[in-house]
Amino acid sequence: MKKIKLSSLAVATLALISFSCGNDGSANSTQTDSATTNQSPMTNDFGEVDGKKITQYTLTNKAGDEVKIINYGGIVTSWVTADKAGNRSSVVLGFDKLEGYLAPPPYFGALIGRYGNRIAGGKFKLNDTTYTLATNNGRNHLHGGNKGFDKVVWDVTAAPSAGNPSITLHYLSKDGEEGYPGNLDVTVTYTLTDANELRIVYDATTDKATPVNLTNHSYFNLTGDVANTILNHKLQIAADRYTPVDRGLIPTGELKAVAGTPFDFNTATVIGERIAQVPGGYDHNYVLNGGKTTALRSVATVTDSVSGRQLEVQTMEPGLQFYSGNFLDGTLKSNAGQPINKHTGFCLETQHFPDSPNQPSFPSTILQPGQKYHTETVYKVSVVR
Ligand code: GLA
Repeated sequence: MKKIKLSSLAVATLALISFSCGNDGSANSTQTDSATTNQSPMTNDFGEVDGKKITQYTLTNKAGDEVKIINYGGIVTSWVTADKAGNRSSVVLGFDKLEGYLAPPPYFGALIGRYGNRIAGGKFKLNDTTYTLATNNGRNHLHGGNKGFDKVVWDVTAAPSAGNPSITLHYLSKDGEEGYPGNLDVTVTYTLTDANELRIVYDATTDKATPVNLTNHSYFNLTGDVANTILNHKLQIAADRYTPVDRGLIPTGELKAVAGTPFDFNTATVIGERIAQVPGGYDHNYVLNGGKTTALRSVATVTDSVSGRQLEVQTMEPGLQFYSGNFLDGTLKSNAGQPINKHTGFCLETQHFPDSPNQPSFPSTILQPGQKYHTETVYKVSVVR
């Protein structure tokens, strides 16, 4: 860990400048180990990608909860919180070395774009033009293609500052990148509040009509230990319908009622209870009640009774991908060298529905020039007794 250098900031707020100047006027932060220094702008080197420096930023709140984020892929590499006994560990899967993220990725903690989830056949038609995207998942396009937003180096336009610590990342996705039309200018801000909420604000503009569907792909394991699966976690999702998929995980177009099926999580239910009835495990988009909203609302909660930790998800998005870590197979190893096995993490990806550009009945994901894409998601971790 070292102290943040002002020169590394493209935009430094006055608050940050005054905070960063020591009594002697030097540009050093006044970082201490006290749990009350939530303003602490801590950074450490995390390697290099595409000739660009990767830095890890640590956001710390008053409770001592700590979120680490790198500017490679905008990845949340860890989120350390206390369990009911006061033991601290990370509730997300991640690596403490860059190398972990350079292997073929399961998208741990990453920002996903330009389009979260699949676009069938890697093709869509917009304004009478058929666009061909990179196909990186069989014949389909997944999570933005070969080099999606999870694999690019983001600019850091504002770093952890006074008040709620936050970091703002920026990326310009060029016209034609991975086959998409238009220059898409994207900004994402992560903020950690004292209530242990990780707030993610996504903004984007374009100069040509293009699909946009941004999300974060954190895998949670509320036990804080990857040796445990998430199958005993209890999940509740406020969704009366979901989008059934074909064998390639492309929605059939139907919005199907969850009632009477293993997809019904309206009442909190243990994830493992009915998973055997779902071929391959859960990897489905839920049609959130209320559709797209302009204000955040709570859409899901997950509870682990052993650690006492609870995750609440709030979003403005109309969809939520519940993925039960089905493709994790023990090949990847945790920081401690343990195999990261099947179902040792779950994702709740706030989003528009998969394959929307080819599904006229789904809420539109097309961003037009002059429009502003704006969406927010909050992940809140607390302890319930
Ligand atoms: C999403 C998809 C899954 C899988 C994971 C990444 O959640 O829906 O099918 O591709 O990402 O492994």
